Amino acid sequence: MNTLIGCPAETEWHENRVALTPEVVTRLRRSGLDVLVETGAGRSACFADEAYVAAGARIAVRTEVFAQADILTVIHRPDCERLRSGQLVIGLLNPDHAPEELEAVTALSFEGLPRTLSRAQAMDVLTSQANVAGYKAAVLAADTFGGFFPMMMTAAGTVRPAKVLVLGGGVAGLQAIGTARRLGALVTGYDVRAAARADIASTGAAVLDLDVTAEGEGGYARTLTADEQAAQQRAMADAIRDFDVVITTAQVPGHRPPLLVPDAALAGMAPGSVVVDLAAGPLGGNVAGSVPDGRTETGNGVVVLGAGNLPAQVPRAASSAWARNVAALLEYLIHDGSVVLDPDDEITGGLLVRSKEAVS
Ligand code: NAI
Repeated sequence: MNTLIGCPAETEWHENRVALTPEVVTRLRRSGLDVLVETGAGRSACFADEAYVAAGARIAVRTEVFAQADILTVIHRPDCERLRSGQLVIGLLNPDHAPEELEAVTALSFEGLPRTLSRAQAMDVLTSQANVAGYKAAVLAADTFGGFFPMMMTAAGTVRPAKVLVLGGGVAGLQAIGTARRLGALVTGYDVRAAARADIASTGAAVLDLDVTAEGEGGYARTLTADEQAAQQRAMADAIRDFDVVITTAQVPGHRPPLLVPDAALAGMAPGSVVVDLAAGPLGGNVAGSVPDGRTETGNGVVVLGAGNLPAQVPRAASSAWARNVAALLEYLIHDGSVVLDPDDEITGGLLVRSKEAVS
């Protein structure tokens, strides 16, 4: 019997993405795999059940998907009481939270993917989804800003383009820069790593230099010392006055996001300016007072948008990228129709939440 890949619908609040698309079902079927998709799983991402069937999948109710699938592919951790012993579950499973829920199964969680390994890049959902988030952050900023992003030459005169500052030049930041530039804004980028500053410059954006450099390990930034952070915040408060829109994406893995835009910096911005904080989370973000999925307005009329789950707001593109990442991983793991999990392999070992015998 062929290995059966199951794709349940996502149940998290406002999650519109789905882990498999019809395009990828076709690809998996060509590799000799069977696919079972929950009724309506792709609906919010604009993929109808009929499209999955046309691609070679079967449609089933949720209980059947969980009961029958050898491999479950999900975005977030699913309802774990439905998981069956011996099943392989692939997703962004947040393995540090309640690990006992995953004990019955073999779990591969994308948080553990070795991201600097070039052969892992086709499987990297964090990168593909950060790319979507950076795009959406720029579009949201443009939609919220009361002016134009591009320069406009009209019979009534010329309107200057918006000035946009993007803080953090990683995956999300570079995509935010590219999108804001394509919308016609004058864009400046900022990062504490030299390599990221070079990436920003390569997009054609200007680079802001605040005289703070913080190279860490493995291509990431290090956390700033208290003195460096204070100096950065002071310099930022000066620099930021000049911008209409600020998009923040700075993060150091494993740490609370650095506070780059304190109250003093917001207070210096002009009324109508817009700040989008992509790093907003339960412990705070890059911007003073930002909350995930929250919109606040400061006393001087600056709008602060804390990003929630932005990829879920671009569900079709985000799901397509996610599903291709999953297909690349499955093609890496499946040999002659059977899953081979080698815990000593760099990719598999990184993804494995707990090792179990190989499923076949
Ligand atoms: P990344 O690790 O590729 O980039 C983060 C960048 O921030 C790095 O280039 C780093 O050098 C820079 N950085 C770190 N500390 C800094 C500081 N003090 N000053 C200036 N730059 C600094 O991360 P990625 O994938 O681009 O994600 C960026 C942020 O966006 C993260 O906070 C991530 O959690 C968030 N995100 C949010 C999403 C949403 O939907 N809300 C979706 C995807 C990512």
